[in-house]
Amino acid sequence: KTLKDLGNLQGKRVLVRADFNVPLDGTTITDDGRIKAALPTIDNLREQGAKVILMAHLGRPKGKVVPELSLAPVAKRLGELLGVNVELASDTYGEDAQKKVAALKDGDVLLLENVRFNPEETSKDADERAAYAKKIAALGDVFVSDGFGVVHRAQGSNYDVAADLPSAAGLLVEKEVTALSRATVNPERPFTVVLGGSKVSDKLAVIENLLSKANRLIIGGGMVYTFLKAQGHEVGKSLLEEDQVEIVKGYIKKAQENDVELVLPTDIIAADTFAADSPYETVAADAIPADKMGLDIGPDSQKLFHDKIVDSKTVVWNGPMGVFEFPAFAAGTKAVAQGLIDATKAGAFTIVGGGDSASAVRNLGFPEEGFSHISTGGGASLELLEGKELPGLKVIE
Ligand code: 3PG
Repeated sequence: KTLKDLGNLQGKRVLVRADFNVPLDGTTITDDGRIKAALPTIDNLREQGAKVILMAHLGRPKGKVVPELSLAPVAKRLGELLGVNVELASDTYGEDAQKKVAALKDGDVLLLENVRFNPEETSKDADERAAYAKKIAALGDVFVSDGFGVVHRAQGSNYDVAADLPSAAGLLVEKEVTALSRATVNPERPFTVVLGGSKVSDKLAVIENLLSKANRLIIGGGMVYTFLKAQGHEVGKSLLEEDQVEIVKGYIKKAQENDVELVLPTDIIAADTFAADSPYETVAADAIPADKMGLDIGPDSQKLFHDKIVDSKTVVWNGPMGVFEFPAFAAGTKAVAQGLIDATKAGAFTIVGGGDSASAVRNLGFPEEGFSHISTGGGASLELLEGKELPGLKVIE
């Protein structure tokens, strides 16, 4: 169900679950992409004359009030983007929230404090969550699920609350699902998936699933050293998940059997220490010295990855190729981003998936319009790619 299915929302109290889990440096938001992504739904509701009540989480405060994880910086930034005052209730469903909801006028926007300050939000006890969700639901007339980044979670404010109110997907969730479906249901081929980031173990299920769907799998980032080890190479002090080596050997075999082209780096930028100013050198991927750690893919691999990406009709990218936060080790991630931009220009459908890759793209200065779709979901977009049924989507079907 989508927004239209909720009918005319003039004067209605609309509870909207958003994903405002933005990266913070103190109280400074370092990437406001997720807040901007929520604007179409908020604008639409305000234009209809609805009273907009936003719910969101920030970080993982584990059911305790952690002042550093207050949504105050989000309320401020959202107010700037909308050009109106966005009030923050000091609780999620308590006295202050009730008072502020009662004072809302048509078109006003209110943000409730971090839902994860309440232990019930993430409780494993479904009855406890349901009782809590009823208290939240009492604040609204309808529920809009627009926090795409959390649709893979079954939590109080994005899942249980849908049982208590007429519910529908917001414009962001609709857009994300439409875009990601283009890659998961009959993608135009060649279909290339680029995976990076630090842990293979985080991406096991998605790799498994893609080995029967993608034409080409490009691997970089910290997880690549486990692949190199599985091929029999030593990786020095690089990140390694020893317990995944056998599983990865199985993937390499399955890729061959399924005719999936597995592309690994041929050279590596190897540093002495994990530091922005560490000395480094470029070495062959099968000859990483024992006292060095790989922090990025090397120049030959950057070109190789770029060219393979450009030679694709559908591209999904999740995870940086190296420690892009340190300028000396950002070239691999930049080469992949540029590859997607060049592929888009050549007519391919390109998706940047994952909160971190999306932030990397923006913070490295790449234009958002260079990509077909930048997903706001990290785990959520990966689980969709895995082919899983996501609880936050199921409840609004
Ligand atoms: C994210 O950052 O991927 C989403 O906001 C979900 O956060 P979570 O992994 O803490 O549930």
